[in-house]
Amino acid sequence: MPSHSMQTLSPAREPGVLVEVKNLTVGFGRGEFLAVKGIDFKLKAGEVVGLVGESGSGKSLTALSLMGLLPHGARIESGKIFFRGRDLAGLSEKERREMCGHLMGMVFQEPLTALNPVFTIGEQVSEIFRIRRGMRKAQANKAALSLLGQVGLPNPAEAAKSYPHRFSGGMRQRVVIAMALALDPELVIADEPTTALDPTIAAQIVWLLRDMAERRKAGVLFITHNLRILAGLAQRVLVMYAGILVEQTQGDFSDPLHPYTRGLLKALPPNPSEAQTARLTPIPGQPPSPSERFPGCPFEPRCPERMDICRKLLPKSVQVQPGRSVRCHKYE
Ligand SMILES: Nc1ncnc2c1ncn2[C@@H]1O[C@H](COP(=O)(O)OP(=O)(O)OP(=O)(O)O)[C@@H](O)[C@H]1O
Ligand SMILES: [Mg+2]
Repeated sequence: MPSHSMQTLSPAREPGVLVEVKNLTVGFGRGEFLAVKGIDFKLKAGEVVGLVGESGSGKSLTALSLMGLLPHGARIESGKIFFRGRDLAGLSEKERREMCGHLMGMVFQEPLTALNPVFTIGEQVSEIFRIRRGMRKAQANKAALSLLGQVGLPNPAEAAKSYPHRFSGGMRQRVVIAMALALDPELVIADEPTTALDPTIAAQIVWLLRDMAERRKAGVLFITHNLRILAGLAQRVLVMYAGILVEQTQGDFSDPLHPYTRGLLKALPPNPSEAQTARLTPIPGQPPSPSERFPGCPFEPRCPERMDICRKLLPKSVQVQPGRSVRCHKYE
């Protein structure tokens, strides 16, 4: 483990809190375009937290901020990110890279980009055991085979000898998850890891991540458009809209509070097999563009329950129960 001399303690350091994000704001250019606007959340070890929201709501930029991988032109305008109580901003570039490399793993939507086409699957997983975990070659190969079996590849010995292009999307995603497991990170960020997969494979991938949280006490941040995929997977769900967190739920969402979360739920087909044919009830209208400035709630123009005040003032986040908060004037 690298030493982090420049560490700052989080004001609210709690046992088991892995990540704490405080008032994080991410912008482009000179801050005239804000994609993430003052979000707060915590993630504990062993916990799966879902992050949902429509396209463009700022989910990926939130994840990339945690990893220190913001795209060119984007920067953290304000706020703090603590990892195990250490302020990431207090680390040097080198310390930060080491920490992200050792303690965080990311699973992206398109697994092919994470795999090297010129090495076999076995070589790629085994290399992580050798370089990151200091194993000898034979030991690393054995560990790689065992892991490929654990992520559900039917014939691990055969798979280890194959090159990534021979694999289907679901198989590749399993390999990427095996690589994340080999790192044994404390935090795994999965950004829409199942979007390209069929529902059965997607469900298996979801359970692999859940298992990782349970057995290895890793924290998992699972990003998706689809609330349904989080049912039974996530202990908590963060709902993001136009760069703000509008609701944080505990457990499932049988009783959503924010009109946006209710809209998202209604937009889901009744069951996954009907996804192709069912008539959806999408929320009418479009989210605002990140360059728009307005004093009120960003959901107001689309909100079926809007009131006068909603246009004038951004609601504060109100805690309605421990672990449950909502940002809506109805609850203030
Ligand atoms: N590299 C970039 N340059 C300019 N704008 C960007 C860049 N990356 C993201 N944005 C903008 O920032 C906002 C938030 O983007 P982000 O990728 O975080 O959304 P998202 O919630 O992950 O969406 P999706 O569900 O489509 O992946 C969007 O308006 C997007 O257009
Ligand atoms: Mg995204």
